[in-house]
Amino acid sequence: MSINIPRGTKDILPGEVEKWQLIEQKAKEVSARFNYKEIRTPIFEHTDLFQRGVGDSTDIVQKEMYTFTDRGDRSLTLRPEGTAPVTRSYVENKLFGLPGQPVKLYYIQPMFRYERPQAGRYRQFVQFGIEAMGSADPAIDAEVISLAMTVYKELGLKKLRLVLNTLGDIESRKSHKEALIAHFEPRIEEFCTDCQNRLTKNPLRILDCKKDRDHELMKSAPSILEHLNEESKTYFEEVKSSLDAMNIEYVIDPTLVRGLDYYNHTAFEIMSEADGFGAITTLSGGGRYNGLVEDLGGPATPSIGFAMSLERLLLALEAEGVTLETEEDLECYVVALGDEAKQKSVSILSQLRQAGIKSDKDYLDKKMKAQFKAADRLKAKYVAILGEEELTKGIINVKNMESGEQTEVVIEELSTFIKQGK
Ligand code: HAM
Repeated sequence: MSINIPRGTKDILPGEVEKWQLIEQKAKEVSARFNYKEIRTPIFEHTDLFQRGVGDSTDIVQKEMYTFTDRGDRSLTLRPEGTAPVTRSYVENKLFGLPGQPVKLYYIQPMFRYERPQAGRYRQFVQFGIEAMGSADPAIDAEVISLAMTVYKELGLKKLRLVLNTLGDIESRKSHKEALIAHFEPRIEEFCTDCQNRLTKNPLRILDCKKDRDHELMKSAPSILEHLNEESKTYFEEVKSSLDAMNIEYVIDPTLVRGLDYYNHTAFEIMSEADGFGAITTLSGGGRYNGLVEDLGGPATPSIGFAMSLERLLLALEAEGVTLETEEDLECYVVALGDEAKQKSVSILSQLRQAGIKSDKDYLDKKMKAQFKAADRLKAKYVAILGEEELTKGIINVKNMESGEQTEVVIEELSTFIKQGK
């Protein structure tokens, strides 16, 4: 009996993987351009990190974590997101002590969430994320957003909508929380059990409930914008004017609530507006998390970041009909005829590869015609043909597949000939 892949995961095979490589390359290149450096953290962490970091009352911690006990009886969890691990690392490695603050980091790593799989939602997915740690300048909020938009736009996406909100500072949130409790409490029994549990712990999360989203109390719920204190208002205004300065368009949505507990001030999501994108339209999400470093044992460190999954990015590219130009063609295919030529082709191929030329040969003892077919399928630019006659003359017959032109080249000079692109 064969064994299948686990639900919500997928294999990325040749033909598809080139797109991933291209996107990863773009993400790395844009990150470097914005002066963000790569960080890699372990795939698993202590479960406590996510309970404390992401928040005990969130769906991620309540329902979606891949948690296991290891042989040393420790509770470990496959990371469901990257912000808590990066913050742990920032504290543990005392990155707050580095001279170059803010510390600007990026990661491209697999994440794991036990969610109901559907298009755009998987149990293992790859996030490209960035975290800018150690600055409370609203301009860096705009920088983070602009980085995400740059990656999307340079890959060819056009139908994007940036949704922006503020969750305010602790004081504003407290006042908003009280207003939310007063709003929902009298009729809370009309809501799902999750919402009932959220009422006192984290009423903001009620606004994010998928089951009760059409309840009439949702629309009339008090908005955070009415509860912002002066400082939070000013902060939000400055983020907006930095975005304006970069000509980045956005829409304000006071109901935008992120699914993780660590956020304050700026929160944002980038959605795809492409037709036929499917039910899940959020391409990426992020926001400011000024309290998290302190919560995880470090000094007060205002921070902001975002994450996008590469899976959803690929879906958006597909929905917009963008094809990525991937470089797959082979430069040279060596066709060998006869035993002696076959043996010689081994060293010829080695010569080509050492010269940096992408090349290959037949390993299935194919006839000449089939070898040509293979070269064709691999879209080889040149086919170098070696038969008995060529061998005695010490040459190889090189056919330029585009022009059809055939040239006799001294074997030792094959790589030079190809490099000259004749
Ligand atoms: P998040 O909104 O939970 O935020 O996830 C960010 C992005 O990860 C989503 O917008 C989506 O692209 C992708 N994503 C999440 N779950 C799945 C899934 N099951 N399948 C496919 N893609 C998924 C965070 O993770 C925060 N750590 C972002 C952040 C960084 N905030 C500040 N810094």
